[in-house]
Amino acid sequence: MADITKSEGDALYHPSKEIIKNANVKDYEKIYKQSIEDPEKFWAKEASQLEWYKKWKTVFDDSERPFFKWFAGGKINIVHNAIDRHLKTWRRNKLALIWEGEPGDVRTMSYHALNREVSKTANVLKSMGVKKGEIVTIYMPQIPELAITMLACVKIGAAHSVVYGGFSVEALADRISNANSRVLVTADGGWRRGKVTDLKSIANDAMDRSPTIEVCITVKRTDHEVHMENDRDFWYHDLMALPIASPSCETEVMDSEDMLFILFTSGTTGKPKGLVHTHGGYQVFTSSTHRNVFDIKDEDRWWCAADPGWITGHSYMVYAPLINGTTVMMYEGAPNHPYPNRWWNMVEKYGINILYTSPTAVRGLMRFGDQWPKRHDLSSLRLLGSVGEPINPEAWRWYHSVIGGGKCPIMDTWWQTETGGFMITPLPVTPLKPGSATKPYFGVEVGIVDENGKEVKAGEEGKLVIKKPTPGMARTIFGDPDRYHETYWKEYEKQGWYKAGDSARMDEDGYIWVIGRIDDVIKVSGYRLGTAEVESALVSYPDVAEAAAIALPHELKGNAIHVYCILKAGLKGDKKLAAEIKKHVSNEIGPIARPEEVHFLESLPKTRSGKIMRRVLKARAMGVDEGDLSTLEE
Ligand code: WT7
Repeated sequence: MADITKSEGDALYHPSKEIIKNANVKDYEKIYKQSIEDPEKFWAKEASQLEWYKKWKTVFDDSERPFFKWFAGGKINIVHNAIDRHLKTWRRNKLALIWEGEPGDVRTMSYHALNREVSKTANVLKSMGVKKGEIVTIYMPQIPELAITMLACVKIGAAHSVVYGGFSVEALADRISNANSRVLVTADGGWRRGKVTDLKSIANDAMDRSPTIEVCITVKRTDHEVHMENDRDFWYHDLMALPIASPSCETEVMDSEDMLFILFTSGTTGKPKGLVHTHGGYQVFTSSTHRNVFDIKDEDRWWCAADPGWITGHSYMVYAPLINGTTVMMYEGAPNHPYPNRWWNMVEKYGINILYTSPTAVRGLMRFGDQWPKRHDLSSLRLLGSVGEPINPEAWRWYHSVIGGGKCPIMDTWWQTETGGFMITPLPVTPLKPGSATKPYFGVEVGIVDENGKEVKAGEEGKLVIKKPTPGMARTIFGDPDRYHETYWKEYEKQGWYKAGDSARMDEDGYIWVIGRIDDVIKVSGYRLGTAEVESALVSYPDVAEAAAIALPHELKGNAIHVYCILKAGLKGDKKLAAEIKKHVSNEIGPIARPEEVHFLESLPKTRSGKIMRRVLKARAMGVDEGDLSTLEE
């Protein structure tokens, strides 16, 4: 059992002797200090744990700030470290993947088998003319082929853009056009709550709206009828049966700074940003954080219960665990299907040692009561993890005691699509405070500052900044370097700091408490959405003239989207219209963007320059003080 002491009225959770004895890193303070005094030395040491075709010339290059380079001059490919190098060792026989489909079908793959699938797929992509530097869009459910396709693209030097399978037509079409993709890999559907998600028809509609796609490869998962277009559409299994799909394929030699993938995320404008991650620094950073924070051992079975369509899935479901030679668990469907014990059943069945998930998932499963996890032997668990939004202490304690049996430290990891990997996080040896992501990772310097960039006092809320670039950070926004500079580096140009977009406070012990976004980004169930995206979907509904979207607290989702619409002249809002508008947003962006409530208004609070004052709407909805209204029109 964990040792619990009191600190400032809050319980402080100490790791057990067992955890400390086995920890990959035992002295956080000492190594942290060294890593900050000489970050380049620290990162060079981490980088030398990987295999390079050719060693780098410089660890860090800031000659073109804010377009930083790491390990410039080095030659590497992330697939070489994630797969190829393991084939020379006993790990070729180790399970790389355990996958369970929602209907209960199971597939497992050794590193040897994974390599064959990836190589075959890589050859299929080559036969479709996929070239180094091109971006392939992937839109799939959580099936092994999703990871296989990502790795196959990268093996031949192409980059991928994975679009989350929960996104819908407009979101997918936008992302395909923005990436200028010529090839799309999708599936006929996937299983979710006992039903088939119709990915292929969404993909077809999206391809109608985005004319760049010439080739669409479809994986058969559900066997339901789909429309295939002559000359454009191919079945994956047909291609994989052809002689061109040979199981041997050279891994392309890449530069450290060559593009690995782009991943779209929401920002403050309606246009999602395609963040560019590169081969060298990203693999050093993600493998280092994964190994040290989750104390990875060769015997471990690791389950990151995220979706590969998000950065969590890219970094900690596919790349970092494979680089560390870990056995990865992957599950296709809903956590409560057919019963709320589905996850706990899988933890027991596969002997999962580390479970990494989101506060939303924890709250959702907690709601069903303790009897569901209690039916299962969860004693294989050693460590737990949380990501996506602040975890409320109540959910933290339930996760810790009921799921972790009081013996598993919870790694509450704060990071972003932009940072590529964990930035603020405990290590297994860190005493924990429920709700705090604790301290910065090695080589990461953070600050909490006021409007003028001055450090705030302990306990005070301020803006979270990162004081030095780290190797896993996105290098730019695809096709829009100015926006990258503007969004992240401009505000603190003088100091050279990165603006995170979050507010936070640090307590007397140096523990960091992240509070939430301070821009027009909403976190719904841990998913990131821009108010502007929701608003643009709203005004694309014929009856809506103007709209505003805000986030209000929600017990399960953390935040829920509430929208305010002004209708076109002469129209009246009612329940039926509200329901139709909800459905429309869900069809355009995806079910995660579905508004919780639709309100109809005659006017919206705006500044004199015409900007919607969302904070006023929010204050009114929550019945709190509206704050400074001096810029309000009216
Ligand atoms: C935003 C980034 C899914 C991978 C990470 C999310 C919030 C993330 C935490 C945490 C408090 C967190 C922040 C951040 N966030 N992790 N442990 N505690 N807040 O990536 O979708 O790019 O979202 O998620 O607000 O800025 P993302």
